[in-house]
Amino acid sequence: MKQALLAIAGLVLAAVLAGVGYLEFFLPRSRPAPEIQVELTPERIERGRYLAENVLQCVDCHSERDWTLYGGPPIEPIGAGRKCMDKTTPAAGVNVGQEYFPGVLCIRNVTPHPETGIGEWTDGELLRAIREGVDRDGRYLFPIMPYFIYRDLADEDVYDVIAYMRSLDPVESVRPRKEVDFPLDYVFSLWPKPVPGRIVAPEASDRLAYGEYLAVVARCKFCHSPRDPNSLEDIPGRQYSGGMAFFLGPRVMYPMNLTPHRDGLGAWTKADFLNRFRLYGQARPVAPEENTLMNWNAFSKMSDEDLGALYDFFMTLDPVPTIREPI
Ligand code: HEC
Ligand code: HEC
Repeated sequence: MKQALLAIAGLVLAAVLAGVGYLEFFLPRSRPAPEIQVELTPERIERGRYLAENVLQCVDCHSERDWTLYGGPPIEPIGAGRKCMDKTTPAAGVNVGQEYFPGVLCIRNVTPHPETGIGEWTDGELLRAIREGVDRDGRYLFPIMPYFIYRDLADEDVYDVIAYMRSLDPVESVRPRKEVDFPLDYVFSLWPKPVPGRIVAPEASDRLAYGEYLAVVARCKFCHSPRDPNSLEDIPGRQYSGGMAFFLGPRVMYPMNLTPHRDGLGAWTKADFLNRFRLYGQARPVAPEENTLMNWNAFSKMSDEDLGALYDFFMTLDPVPTIREPI
């Protein structure tokens, strides 16, 4: 009898240890959410709207899109998330080593609805999710959420985005938690890491530095640079040179070379560059199979100063020819 009890106690202990080990194994590096309180001033909300809708693309990802209009503008309810991806959905835009998404992943509801959105999150928890890739409970966010790019976002810019999210209409919309198959869940749980300190953006008057900041956080660099498909690191010497295949249904498209090489922006004046955004940003009807993954609709409403700073920065890059990726 005593032996049986001991054996049971042993089994229980082993199970508890395994449980703890399992959780430890999957819990990413994180720090406690910082204690901040973002002031909901009209200025913050307005700048947050510009950043979230036209620069950082939060709204494009976190809303359904109208693919019958060029550039796929987001549709109401804004910020309420999207239909989930699962094992029957092509794993578009993310290299998961297979054609279909290995599990279930929903782009979540980021409106201030209490149960189904971010209504109960603190400002510090939102800041940490956006830049450091962990949710309220310290679990990793799947890196389709580009927190690893937003790591470089200045504190003030994240505060503005948080103020904007809080200003959205709360929408009740259940987007269940993800379930990602092993080993991918383990691999991505290793990605998050805390941001070491305060981050300050370059002054907007320092045009080249500010242009580079925008090129990073607006993800021009991410989509327009060839990169290692597994680590997602960009390939040294080929940054901004475009040429990778992007797929939208049957359409294959290649991000443009944004270096001043003749394959890229070499012959473009700043006026050509701005006009392209203003022209392509008009939401004209288009057959869905002729649509594009370049977010013209959103980016076309970036200010002349910001698009101009991007152009000025691109012109300082080394000219690099395009190498078109075979498909
Ligand atoms: C390329 C698409 C994409 C973009 C752009 C994007 N997100 Fe996300 N976001 C996601 C996905 C996918 C998830 C779900 C990740 C998961 O469940 O692990 C997510 C999760 C989140 C979460 C966590 C919500 C929760 O309930 O766990 C927050 C908060 C968030 N995003 C805010 C933002 C903000 C703010 C921006 C802009 C600064 C942004 N996102 C831009 C795709 C995106
Ligand atoms: C989500 C990925 C993505 C992001 C983010 C992105 N691009 Fe693009 N870009 C593309 C793709 C794909 C194309 C090719 C589009 C096509 O052929 O329809 C493209 C095309 C372009 C073009 C070519 C226009 C033409 O005449 O064909 C320019 C210029 C451009 N992008 C600039 C930018 C700038 C500047 C940024 C940052 C503000 C940016 N892109 C961000 C994917 C992206």
